[in-house]
Amino acid sequence: MKFTAISLGFWLTSFLYVVKLTEGARILAIVAVPSYSHQIAFHPIWAALSRRGHQVVLFTTDPIGDPSLTNLTEIDFRHTYDVIKNIDYAKLRYTYDWMTLQQGILQYKSLAIIEEIFKHAEVRKLYAPNSGEKFDVVLAEAVITPGLYALAHRFNAPLIGKSCNDNLLCTLRVNIVCN
Ligand SMILES: *[C@@H]1O[C@H](CO)[C@@H](O)[C@H](O)[C@H]1NC(C)=O
Repeated sequence: MKFTAISLGFWLTSFLYVVKLTEGARILAIVAVPSYSHQIAFHPIWAALSRRGHQVVLFTTDPIGDPSLTNLTEIDFRHTYDVIKNIDYAKLRYTYDWMTLQQGILQYKSLAIIEEIFKHAEVRKLYAPNSGEKFDVVLAEAVITPGLYALAHRFNAPLIGKSCNDNLLCTLRVNIVCN
């Protein structure tokens, strides 16, 4: 896991531009990859933001589960580990290079993950046309789940991509359009 101060600083600075520091923001945080290393990299950030009075709704496969974080609402997608559990990297590496694996197989698998998330009852409630839900910003891991970035459009909120690994942004050729 590579988590550099530079990448963290970059998106946090961007974030602080969009929300006023003096007010609590409503934040939709999305880390959809069923991988503990992706999730845990961001845990301290969600905890810190919620302790500072921001209301954070987090899509995650590995909830923090700390009841003292009363401003953090976690929607648990741990069942999406099932989607990727049968990928046999040890075997596939003889057939595909790493780029193909990521761009082809993982990207393809991610479609099922995105679908699971959009189907989830709590998520449906959030994006239902008359839900009245508002978010000031969507912070999404900029990785294999671009379908979820549409939620920023739904909530008319700026979309900020973040990464727990500098390399992923390049290898997956992720393009993020912020509105
Ligand atoms: C929750 O947010 C409020 C402000 O909205 C803040 O005063 C409070 O300290 C926060 N609570 C926790 C446990 O982080």
